[in-house]
Amino acid sequence: MLTLDHVHFYYDKAQTIIDDLSLTINDGEFVAVIGGNGCGKSTLARLMNGLLQTRKGRVKLDHLDTANVKDVAEIHRQIGLVFQNPDDQFITTTVMDEVLFGLENIRVSRDEMTIRLDDALRAVQMEDYTDAMPHELSGGQKQRVAIAAILAMRPRIMIFDEATSMLDPQGREQLLSIMYELHRQGMTIIHITHHLEEVLTADRLLLLHEGRLEFDGHPLTFFNTVCLKDYGMDSPFAVRLHRALQLSLPLMADWKEMITSQWSTR
Ligand SMILES: Nc1ncnc2c1ncn2[C@@H]1O[C@H](COP(=O)(O)OP(=O)(O)OP(=O)(O)O)[C@@H](O)[C@H]1O
Ligand SMILES: [Mg+2]
Repeated sequence: MLTLDHVHFYYDKAQTIIDDLSLTINDGEFVAVIGGNGCGKSTLARLMNGLLQTRKGRVKLDHLDTANVKDVAEIHRQIGLVFQNPDDQFITTTVMDEVLFGLENIRVSRDEMTIRLDDALRAVQMEDYTDAMPHELSGGQKQRVAIAAILAMRPRIMIFDEATSMLDPQGREQLLSIMYELHRQGMTIIHITHHLEEVLTADRLLLLHEGRLEFDGHPLTFFNTVCLKDYGMDSPFAVRLHRALQLSLPLMADWKEMITSQWSTR
């Protein structure tokens, strides 16, 4: 369980970024996080995995506390963070080295390394690219290698900070399906995005606004109750379609399924 308790954060004292925010993320949840540009989403992600320290309040992963220096390395291992730009994430020269790099720091045996390398690359469908170099890979492939490097550390939680935003539609699809597969296997997923169609299938949606949580609940409830224009956002296609056609069925994440269900009930 990841707990934020009255978290307060600023870079510059004159500008509060996270304002007295409390929330709990349970094991196995798929949580989407949205909010306008600069509202503090990436800051929140870095507070969650201990890359940043709170100014007030606490962030805890079970008994581990990001304020305890001796806990931070373990928190980093348990909470993986995938960033937006795939080019910023490759630090070694080959796919294999990229995945092994982190493992060398946590003193994993050679045999265990081989197992973890194979498992991690298979999970992101990059097992045929062990010797490939960064310039030989697409943005989506680089992003998948970054994910493999994290998976090899056997984390409990993965935070994707706009990890889909620089990818082409195919790369985005692949990355989303990996996220859903990891979730199906029991991993807690935190997906920060500005693509609202990606949040419809989450278990829970958080809306961050001016450093505070403005909404915390089911995505379908969010689209039925919150005025998106107030936050400078537009409804995803499934929501607009549901409204335009005044469907009698509840709003569904998959608009094709929604249409089929409506038609088949007649
Ligand atoms: N290292 C930093 N030093 C000072 N100010 C920062 C730093 N990083 C971010 N900020 C400021 O903090 C605020 C929140 O930034 P943050 O990156 O967390 O927002 P975000 O919601 O992730 O934005 P985006 O949608 O653009 O990714 C912004 O006003 C930003 O300019
Ligand atoms: Mg950001």
